[in-house]
Amino acid sequence: MTYTELLSIADKAMKNAYAPYSEFKVGAALLCSDGTVFTGCNIENATYGATNCAERTAIFKAVSEGHRDFEAIAIVSSGGDETFPCGICRQVMAEFAPELKIILRDKNGIEAIYQLSELLPKSFSL
Ligand code: THU
Repeated sequence: MTYTELLSIADKAMKNAYAPYSEFKVGAALLCSDGTVFTGCNIENATYGATNCAERTAIFKAVSEGHRDFEAIAIVSSGGDETFPCGICRQVMAEFAPELKIILRDKNGIEAIYQLSELLPKSFSL
């Protein structure tokens, strides 16, 4: 599985986004160490705070299916530009994979790879 393929899977997942309030659609594809991929999209709610981001949808699907070893997550959005994960999603990623690779695509389609530890240094842990 290449990161280009992972971004394509995230693109497909974005089509399921439920975002009638922001109209900002996000898709994510989470690559597990064993090669399994879990997808996610953002799911908004009339009580805005109940909204779930695409990244957390993918991570929660994976964990609930018994997967906790993650290698990379690809994130795309209808915004076109690089869409960095929000703070809550970064913290959820850090719980399971402090060295997770975050694969984004900029508005020119160029892939960029970040390390979670550079996006969330000194993360909280117990
Ligand atoms: N959103 C995500 O799905 N992931 C992020 O990392 C940032 C924001 C969603 C939440 C909401 O549905 C919409 O984008 C606008 O904030």
